[in-house]
Amino acid sequence: SMEHQPYRTGFHFQPPRNWMNDPNGPMYYKGVYHLFYQYNPYAAVWGNITWAHSISYDLVDWIHLENALSPDDPFDINGCWSGSATFLTGGKPVVLYTGSDTMKHQVQNLAEPKNLSDPLLREWVKSSHNPLMTPVDGIEPEFFRDPTTAWQGPDGLWRVLVGNRMDGHGWALLYRSRDFITWTRSKEPLHSSTRTGMWECPDFYPVSVDGKEGVDTSSFDDSTKHVLKASFNDCDHYVLGNYTPVTDNYSVDTDFLENGSDLRYDYGNFYASKTFFDGGKKRRILWGWIQEADSTTNDIEKGWSGLQSVPRSILLSKTGKQLVQWPVEEIEKLRTGNVSFENKKLEGGSVLEVSGITPSQADVEVSFDLSNLEEAELMDPSWIDPQLLCRQKTAPVRGNIGPFGILAFASKDMTEQTAIFFRVFRSDDKHVVLMCSDQSRSSLREGLKKETYGTFIDIDPLHEKISLRSLIDHSIVESFGGDGRACITARVYPKSAIDNQSYLYAFNNGTFDVNISNLNAWSMKKAQIVSSTKRRKPH
Ligand code: FRU
Repeated sequence: SMEHQPYRTGFHFQPPRNWMNDPNGPMYYKGVYHLFYQYNPYAAVWGNITWAHSISYDLVDWIHLENALSPDDPFDINGCWSGSATFLTGGKPVVLYTGSDTMKHQVQNLAEPKNLSDPLLREWVKSSHNPLMTPVDGIEPEFFRDPTTAWQGPDGLWRVLVGNRMDGHGWALLYRSRDFITWTRSKEPLHSSTRTGMWECPDFYPVSVDGKEGVDTSSFDDSTKHVLKASFNDCDHYVLGNYTPVTDNYSVDTDFLENGSDLRYDYGNFYASKTFFDGGKKRRILWGWIQEADSTTNDIEKGWSGLQSVPRSILLSKTGKQLVQWPVEEIEKLRTGNVSFENKKLEGGSVLEVSGITPSQADVEVSFDLSNLEEAELMDPSWIDPQLLCRQKTAPVRGNIGPFGILAFASKDMTEQTAIFFRVFRSDDKHVVLMCSDQSRSSLREGLKKETYGTFIDIDPLHEKISLRSLIDHSIVESFGGDGRACITARVYPKSAIDNQSYLYAFNNGTFDVNISNLNAWSMKKAQIVSSTKRRKPH
């Protein structure tokens, strides 16, 4: 029932009720953060897709405004699907979005604010030129969607990518325009891959090679690399490469699903994400949709479905070979009631309760120091799939060095627990670190997806500590390993480990001791996420 809501979150963005999927058109405009999102105004299941709109001054507290775009024109009557915001020359924000038209063909549309002097940009007007891009010249009408933020080349032309499936594979179609109204498709896509299916929600943006600040979408110089992200197989995959404006050549360092180098924003539940450049704090911020892992029947029963991740700032790592992500600093405003300790030995087979905070709504940082690294088990060269390895070697499976980490959402008797942990293996000349989020024991309830996730993480435990930060929030745990080098997000629905029956532990189920060099945990206050009175409909 709607009364008992143990799984609603305290500091993750969600609408008061109903279905939410992809984040859309995020932007920072005149001191205000805007988030639009795919929303069903009528039910907790996908349908009637509308752009809902919320604003924030700090990315933590949010005000829900009126819906920005509703499916009520021939070019979007079957849904106002995903899209992105662009600042035109002069700074005016506009959005490009996909409409599902009267024939359920996907077309790309433009909308702009009705009143630019309203800093909240409450009202949006669809362009009289819509649709701007239609599925012609062999484009399959059901696989043509999700325009990116547009960027402007040195030649003054605007460019935008549209996600596409052609010959059964993933493509990022490239369109160019001088006036943002008339768009011409380039003969060559920006990129494509025969190893994947349809690409949804592409994203394309520069990252600075010195890795300190975010970069605006239309800036180009030698000190940037370009990220191309595509959503497929329930995951957000990305590649890094060098982009040459004007020729629009994009040459990738490693490709999608090649060399076993499968770069993902998050190795858990995280999809259809989108970044934007925050000109205020000079950073690039990533939002991602976190789906439910419960049954549709239960989604309907609880009256809502879907979360947004905590916004993450995103940078190129020092190695230049991957991205790193970290929750925006503003989220730390919610920290309260700190518990911390240093230098605590965790013997093989032991657990340590972290008490004094609210474990179902918490922020935990812990770092581990390892001695005995020569005792690490040998890495088997056939272990190429880290998720499979985490599924086989779940938290109760004892190793030499690890599993060690935390048990979130644990019941006092430990029959429920979500284990986020590491294992260290030894190969010829180096160590291999595996990071897992094991949901297999997360709930005594049946009928849930309890998928276990995992990834290898680029840490050399001989020279650095292994760190973990987990944001725990009633039915979600977002984990950042190695200072953001690997992220794993999971949804869990404990039966008894809810509210004040939820406990948090550090654990070591390896044979050898590990040392907690530092642990810091905080209770998290609730974010203020409220509806503007204007939006409330009379009952
Ligand atoms: C991704 C997606 C997009 C589409 C939208 C529809 O989750 O399927 O490709 O635009 O959701 O809601």
